[in-house]
Amino acid sequence: MRIGLAGVGRIGAFHARTLAALDDVDELVVTDADPRAAERVAAELRLLATGATGATGATEATRETREVGVRVVPDADALLASGVDGFVVATATPGHAPLLRQAVAAGVPVFCEKPVAATLKETIELAELAASSAVPIHVGFQRRFDAGYRRARAAVASGELGFVHTIRAGTHDQAPPHASYIPTSGGIFRDCNVHDFDILRFVTGREVATVYATGANKGAAFFAEAGDVDTGGALLTLDDGTIALISSTRYHGAGHDVRMEVHGEKGAIAVGLDHSLAMSSAEEGVDFPRGPRTWSFMERFLPAYRAELAAFAAVARGERPSPCTVRDALEAFRVAEACELSRAERRPVDMSEIEGIGGGA
Ligand SMILES: NC(=O)c1ccc[n+]([C@@H]2O[C@H](COP(=O)([O-])OP(=O)(O)OC[C@H]3O[C@@H](n4cnc5c(N)ncnc54)[C@H](O)[C@@H]3O)[C@@H](O)[C@H]2O)c1
Repeated sequence: MRIGLAGVGRIGAFHARTLAALDDVDELVVTDADPRAAERVAAELRLLATGATGATGATEATRETREVGVRVVPDADALLASGVDGFVVATATPGHAPLLRQAVAAGVPVFCEKPVAATLKETIELAELAASSAVPIHVGFQRRFDAGYRRARAAVASGELGFVHTIRAGTHDQAPPHASYIPTSGGIFRDCNVHDFDILRFVTGREVATVYATGANKGAAFFAEAGDVDTGGALLTLDDGTIALISSTRYHGAGHDVRMEVHGEKGAIAVGLDHSLAMSSAEEGVDFPRGPRTWSFMERFLPAYRAELAAFAAVARGERPSPCTVRDALEAFRVAEACELSRAERRPVDMSEIEGIGGGA
């Protein structure tokens, strides 16, 4: 297959290496607003394909990199005109919506990093476009491909936990992204916790009913300058009465920490509770966790990122429907929107206050 890739920053360069390692992919067509970044990633892939050691970014993701053709093109027009079988959008968030529209107009199956758009209005428009089009769109919520979250989903669905009453989940990044990322990121709830909101729906099969959120800034000034917070907290009530406590921070120096605990009447299950846990026990004589820790989302979700792009190749070949639709992305984004409103107005927000498809919740 020939796969196009727009945007080769932090996640795009990582996706380039993952795509190049997929058996399905014969050629990558790459573009970036910064042509030097595209050339750099293309050069790195060519170097890795030769088996050279010491290439930048030669992580585990690249060990299996095969010899794929890599071509750099100036923009998305040239990329789509090159006859790609699928298009991966990994640009900064404001680029997602226009590129999605371009891909749909060209009839090319598209994988788009979360969030699909920077605003709720645009996300709703894209969900409506997706519903009226036969072109598959797969949104990049990789936790849906993580073995732990899938096991938790099965435990809820099978009834082995009894009724579920409480969920604790969080996304704690080891260190902040570069300062220029923050003003266009959409804020901590739309950028970071949106993953928790999506996986909460995936694991429980329920929708969020009400939200109460807050945030704090104790780190770098650039968060407050962008109207954002570096640490967030949200108390959600699901439509079956389950309570979910969600947290986020850009400062978790102990390591990258993404987890979910599901507590039920008959049992409890935890995702991410293994020896890589970025925390130490305060209890005497306890040697859990024994490490090593993970330090970034790339490390933490390496197998999940591989599985989601392999799934996208199958989506692009027409072998399966999208495992995460724009409608799914819209529902997670609406929860993030409610959190921002709650934080700004310091009050609980009912999801019926947040616009959805057809103008209502
Ligand atoms: N799924 C995940 O776990 C995950 C993790 C990180 C980032 N993301 C998402 O991926 C996106 C990119 O994040 P990042 O951390 O890689 O950002 P980044 O700032 O490191 O990289 C963005 C890249 O996109 C390029 N770019 C910007 N606008 C463009 C356009 N219109 N056309 C072509 N190239 C363009 C920039 O030059 C840059 O190279 C964001 O939307 C982010 O929310 C998802």
